Amino acid sequence: MMSDDLAALRAETAEQLAAAADLRAWDAVRVATLGKSGKLTGLLKGLGAVPAEQRKERGAALNRLKGELESAIEARRLALEDAALEARLAAERLDVTLPPRPAAPAGEGGIHPISRTFEELVALFGAQGFSVAEGPDIESDWLNFSALNIPDHHPARQDHDTFYLPAGADGRRPVLRTHTSPVQARTMLGQEPPIRVIVPGRTWRADHDATHSPMFHQVEGLVIDRGIHLGHLKGCLIDFLRAFFGIADLPVRFRSSYFPFTEPSMEVDIGWNRKTGQLGAGGDWLEILGSGMVHPKVLANCGLDPREWQGFAFGMGIERITMLKHGMPDLRPFYESDLRWLRHWASDPLSPPSLAEGI
Ligand code: DAH
Repeated sequence: MMSDDLAALRAETAEQLAAAADLRAWDAVRVATLGKSGKLTGLLKGLGAVPAEQRKERGAALNRLKGELESAIEARRLALEDAALEARLAAERLDVTLPPRPAAPAGEGGIHPISRTFEELVALFGAQGFSVAEGPDIESDWLNFSALNIPDHHPARQDHDTFYLPAGADGRRPVLRTHTSPVQARTMLGQEPPIRVIVPGRTWRADHDATHSPMFHQVEGLVIDRGIHLGHLKGCLIDFLRAFFGIADLPVRFRSSYFPFTEPSMEVDIGWNRKTGQLGAGGDWLEILGSGMVHPKVLANCGLDPREWQGFAFGMGIERITMLKHGMPDLRPFYESDLRWLRHWASDPLSPPSLAEGI
């Protein structure tokens, strides 16, 4: 028979356990009962003071109660954990068949300036009849260099600060493309002329400071057809530059230069004011892109007969034209995901660039 104080402790603990609504409350009951200064522990400690003839019976009763309380406490823990899991499953229930709902209120998200410039390039060159071509970031050294008339020991290979990858089965080391120009070769090898493509994409060079990043973006242009000449190149680029910078009379200068994959080659400058940084008038010149007539060797490397087909090509840095257009002083924030910068420079996803509304 259990004495009254033990029966009372059993009833009291059962009541407290039932009232414990979560695991914290449950733990408080456990400690108050079985803990070092808990009630049952106190009763066990008091066993020494019980008269010898009652001690055996009381000891057995206390042990039985201890077993009962331990099971009751453990059962309550399991029940509470089950209930917590059920509640969580109910709260996190997701009906994947529902239509998507914008997570942020309208107007919270914005288009990154690099993406915005991509969209503008597509709109402007699209209006001139260009489509978009793409190529992989990991490129063979043949496509990145040799096909473009940059042979194995050509100094231009060093100029590019190339990231080389481990050699493949053929013993040649692939590269992270140092420019978008290999997609010129890919396009000529992959489709019949006439060709009119732009190639926006990522490019890589081992270089890092305020105006260089190891990963940056370029856009390449390639036109191949019969009877293409320098006048087409100039008209195409002058139109593009004036529309992109939104300055109808932007001065544009073609300056003789050298690229292995074009002959003749020209760098293109636009007019600006060096002191104020303002584009347009000002008497100073700012280099903006490289261009030229596709070299006959490049045409031949890509399976085209240079006596039948001619073309022009150009390439420019997306970060550079974006910084100039918007007057951004530093290249690095483009990749830092700083929300303040992003909020400042992001554009509205609901009004993409269009020729009708202006670029
Ligand atoms: N690939 C050159 C670079 O990365 C840029 C360039 C210059 C591309 C002239 C061209 C071109 O297509 O004709 O610096």
